[in-house]
Amino acid sequence: KTVAILFGGKSAEHEVSLMSAKNVIEAIDREAYDVVLIGVDKSGAWHLLDESHYLNNPDDAKNIQLHLSGEAVAVIPGQSAAQIINTKTQQPIKQIDVVFPVIHGTLGEDGSLQGLVRTLNLPFVGVDLLGSAVSMDKDFTKRLLKEQGLQVASGRVYKSHEQCAICFDDIKASLGFPVFIKPANQGSSVGVSKATDKDSFEKAIKEAFLYDDKVLIEEAVRGREVECAVLGNEDPQASVIGEILPQTDFYSYESKYINESGAVLSAPADLTSAQVEKIQEQAVSVFKALDCEGMARVDFFLKEDDTLVINEVNTIPGFTKISMYPRLWMLSGLSYPALIDTLIKLAFE
Ligand code: DAL
Ligand code: MG
Repeated sequence: KTVAILFGGKSAEHEVSLMSAKNVIEAIDREAYDVVLIGVDKSGAWHLLDESHYLNNPDDAKNIQLHLSGEAVAVIPGQSAAQIINTKTQQPIKQIDVVFPVIHGTLGEDGSLQGLVRTLNLPFVGVDLLGSAVSMDKDFTKRLLKEQGLQVASGRVYKSHEQCAICFDDIKASLGFPVFIKPANQGSSVGVSKATDKDSFEKAIKEAFLYDDKVLIEEAVRGREVECAVLGNEDPQASVIGEILPQTDFYSYESKYINESGAVLSAPADLTSAQVEKIQEQAVSVFKALDCEGMARVDFFLKEDDTLVINEVNTIPGFTKISMYPRLWMLSGLSYPALIDTLIKLAFE
C-alpha cells in the first residue's frame, strides 16, 4: 500500500507539523508501505516532496525550513486508489491508497482535510470529519463533554462581533482572576494568554481574536496537568499517563517548542493506580463522546480533591521529539514504528 503523508499546512502550527511529520516519516515501516510526501505550503498549495531533502532539516521550530519547491500537485479520485497529478502537465505521477494527515490545527485537524479526503474515496488515519471538527473547537468540545456529565473549566464564549460586550468587572466577578483567554480553534497554545489584570486582559482578548473569530475566557483551574493517549476505533485503549510541569507561567508555545527548559515532561506520571484508572477511563469516555476514532490525546487538570477537569482534546496530537502521544505509547509497550503501523491499519477498519 502507498501511504501519502500530508504535512505543513496553512495553520499557525505549520512548523510543529514539520517536526511531527519528520518523526512519522522516519517511523514508517518501508518494507510494509511505500511512502509519498505531500508538503502543504503556507498558502495552502500542495507539493510532491523529495524525502532526502526534507529529512536533512534540523528539527526545531526556530530553524526548520522546508523548501516546499517540489512539483505542484493535486489529488483526484480514482477507481480504487487516488491519483496524484502534476498540476502543470496534468499527468498522473503516482497513486495512493491511504492518507496520513500530520497537519495540526485549522484545515488539517478540524475536519476540512478529512472531508476532502473522504471525497477522494480514500481511507485516512485518525478521526473522521465530525469528530475532528468538534474536537478542534473548544467551545463545542466543552458543550458535548458537559452533556456527558464530564467536567470542564467554567468560562464564557464570545464571537468577534460581541467583543465590545466583554466586561472586565463582570468576568472578574464570575470567573475570578487570573483567567485564560484562548482562540476557540487553535493548537499548541498559539494565541493563548493568562490575564492577571485589566491591561493584560485587554491585550489577551485582542491577541486571541487575531487567530479566530471566537474566543473563550476560562477560569484558571488549579491542578496538575496530565495527559492520556487513546488509540483504537470501536474499542479504544488508553495509555499510561504523562504529566506536564510548566516551569514558566503556563505551558505556552514557547515552552513547548522553543525553549526546552520551559516545561518538564514526566511519564509515567507519579500517580496512584486509582488516579491512573480514573484518568484512563475518562480519556476513553471523552474519545467516545466526541466521536473520535484512530487516535487522540486528552489533556486534563487533576485537582487536589482528585476530580478531573478536561482541558482539551487533540485529534492530530504532536509527534515531535518532545511530544507525549508517541512517548506515552512507547511507555505502554508500543514502539514508534508499531504505533504508526497500528494507526494505518485502523484507517482501513
Ligand atoms: N496541538 C499540538 C500539536 C498538540 O496538542 O500536541
Ligand atoms: Mg494541550
